[in-house]
Amino acid sequence: MNRAVAELIEVERIYRMGAEKVHALDRVSFRVERGEYWSVMGASGSGKSTLLNVMGCLDRPTKGSYRLAERDTGVMDDDELSELRSRKLGFIFQSYNLIPQLDVLENIMVPLFYQDEPPVDGLERAESLARRTGLADRMRHKPSELSGGQQQRVAIARALVNDPELILADEATGNLDSQTAEEILDLFDELWREGKTLVFVTHETHVAARASHVLRMRDGQIEEIEVRERAKEIQGRPATEATC
Ligand SMILES: Nc1ncnc2c1ncn2[C@@H]1O[C@H](COP(=O)(O)OP(=O)(O)O)[C@@H](O)[C@H]1O
Ligand SMILES: [Mg+2]
Repeated sequence: MNRAVAELIEVERIYRMGAEKVHALDRVSFRVERGEYWSVMGASGSGKSTLLNVMGCLDRPTKGSYRLAERDTGVMDDDELSELRSRKLGFIFQSYNLIPQLDVLENIMVPLFYQDEPPVDGLERAESLARRTGLADRMRHKPSELSGGQQQRVAIARALVNDPELILADEATGNLDSQTAEEILDLFDELWREGKTLVFVTHETHVAARASHVLRMRDGQIEEIEVRERAKEIQGRPATEATC
C-alpha cells in the first residue's frame, strides 16, 4: 500500500468572532498518498485556505487530528512543528510572499535557514532550482525587479529547495496572465511526473483538470472527492523509497 503523506481525521477549525462561531472546517477527513495530485475546489469562503493552512502546519485544528509524514502534529509544540514544516513542506501562496530585501537566490534559500542543520549545498541547490524554473539570468535580482510570473517561479523554487514530501499551493496562478499560468501549471505537472505529491487550491476547472483527485468543499465540509482518470498514472509508477 502507498504511504500516507497527509492524513486528516475529523478535522474542525472554528473561528470565534465575538459571540459568533464560524465553522471554517467541519469534520474533514481524507488522506493524501505519495505521488497524488489533489486539487481543492469550492466557492469563496468554503474553507479551502483554512484547509491548506492546517495541512501546511500554519494553523492547527480546533478538534480532530492531522498527521503529516506519518507524525501526529497535535502532540508537537510550535518549534517541532516549524522544524517539521521546514523539512517536509513546500508552500506556494497566491501573493508570492517573497522577502523584498533578498535577491532571487537568497529568497529560494529561506526555508533552509529554519532547519536545525541547514544543508551545506544550499547555494548550489538554489542555483539549480533557479535554472530549472527559468530564472537563470535573474539570480541576483530583487523581487521588485521581476514580473509576477517570475516572482511566482521564485516562490516555486523556494518551495522545492528542501525537497519536500508535500507541495501545497493556494491559488498559485490566480494573479498571473493565462499564458504564464499555463507555464507554471506545466512546471507543476513536471514535478508530479517526477513523483512529487501536490495539493492545489483553485477555483478554475481547467486547473483542476490536471489533478488525479478533486476535492470539493462546501461550507467547511467535503462535498465530494472525485478520483480522476489520471490517478491510474500513479499506480503504474515504480514505488519510491521512503525518505523519512
Ligand atoms: N482569521 C479568520 N478569522 C475569522 N474567520 C475566518 C478567518 N479566516 C477565515 N475565516 C472564515 O472561515 C471561512 C473559510 O475561509 P477560507 O478558508 O479563507 O475560505 P476560502 O479559501 O475557501 O475562500 C470563511 O467564512 C471565512 O470568513
Ligand atoms: Mg482562500
